[in-house]
Amino acid sequence: MNQKAQSGKADSAVKWVKVWDGPVRLFHWTLVLLMIGSYVSAKQGKLDVHFYLGYAILTLVLFRILWGLAGSQTARFSQFVKGPGAALSHLGHVLRREREDEVGHNAAGAYMVLALLALVLFQTITGLFSNDGMFEEAPLAHLVGGAWSDTFTLWHGYSFDIIVIAVALHVAAVLLYAVLLRQDLVRPMVTGWARLPAAFTAPRMAPVWLAVLFLLIAAAIVWAVVTYA
Ligand code: HEM
Repeated sequence: MNQKAQSGKADSAVKWVKVWDGPVRLFHWTLVLLMIGSYVSAKQGKLDVHFYLGYAILTLVLFRILWGLAGSQTARFSQFVKGPGAALSHLGHVLRREREDEVGHNAAGAYMVLALLALVLFQTITGLFSNDGMFEEAPLAHLVGGAWSDTFTLWHGYSFDIIVIAVALHVAAVLLYAVLLRQDLVRPMVTGWARLPAAFTAPRMAPVWLAVLFLLIAAAIVWAVVTYA
């Protein structure tokens, strides 16, 4: 799947194409809500709630990695991660205000997607080894001892700050596409459907049962780790 077209150069006929499956959309907006919830629960000192939200976020990210390996076409890393040259070329088009329609993530956005997933994964893993400096230890803190647990706690805090910056850039990029290129990326991430050049073919969607299976596998891994480690 390497479908893209620049506006003005392509056929002007358009049609609605389903670009994002339900699992990707649910993953995205649930992740946003859980991230907000985990921030609020940490601020309020509700560490038990914070832990459960962290397990849920780790489950989601593990699910998304599995879905990126064997899920729907637009969800697959092999489909949307391209070389840095393609990303730079796409950014060049954006700066020249040349709209490039694509089925799925563009080559530059792909790196932001990878960065966000990696950061959230790092955030949850460091969280598992952290402590609150007083009474509470996360489930894996005993495996590394107090000094290392303190170090993980520091990294957990730093990586949250980096996530805030990355999310701000992510949302700024989405706004930039809307303002500079009149390209609405949010609507497809909500509804699944995008208006694209008629020549584009719809991407192949993986079955929902596979998403449920991957989610159960991800949840089982997290449950086993926090229960038995
Ligand atoms: C905690 C905050 C957020 C995180 C961690 C986050 C993370 C992500 C990730 C990982 C993806 C890739 C989705 C996938 O392929 O599975 C993505 C895509 C996307 N996000 Fe977010 N996101 C956040 C907030 C938002 C907000 C507030 C908006 C609304 C403006 C937004 C709009 C989008 C859109 C439109 C895409 C698809 C971009 C494209 O078409 O390539 N995100 N986000």
